[in-house]
Amino acid sequence: MLRAIYPGSFDPVTYGHYDIICRSCKIVDELIVGVLNNKAKMPLFSVEERVKMLKEVTKDLPNVRIIPFDGLLVDFAERMDADMVIRGLRAITDFEYELQMSQTNHKLSPNVETMFLTTSIEYSYLSSTTVREILLSSYHRPLQLSLKRR
Ligand code: PNS
Repeated sequence: MLRAIYPGSFDPVTYGHYDIICRSCKIVDELIVGVLNNKAKMPLFSVEERVKMLKEVTKDLPNVRIIPFDGLLVDFAERMDADMVIRGLRAITDFEYELQMSQTNHKLSPNVETMFLTTSIEYSYLSSTTVREILLSSYHRPLQLSLKRR
């Protein structure tokens, strides 16, 4: 039984995240999407809203669970008895941060391995930060942008 955690802020969830979720849940037996409840950050969507959105988009994926967490990712991974962490890589600009995070996590908990999936090319431009910026100025444009990609 292979269980992985796909952690993130998901503020909000994007088609890029959904792409990684769909591909990951074919590789592992169970995928836990860990939604960070970071009290130091000021998210646009509350953790409850982010969990709700993720549950809605993953409702047809039977081996995916959505669970909020706070504190360290490695502690959450240990609590969930997860075998690995999955992260998506969009471009070289993601690499430095992801490398540092995976090495730190590995140092904190040598049992936690990180596996990277490269984002599908049609979503490599997409980020929650961009979606948030557009959402704050205009509610219909992110939807228009997402529908065009489907
Ligand atoms: O979607 P994001 O914001 O890029 O996800 C970042 C996330 C949630 C994976 C990362 O910030 C995280 O794991 N935070 C939990 C705190 C932690 O464990 N920090 C040490 C790892 S460097």
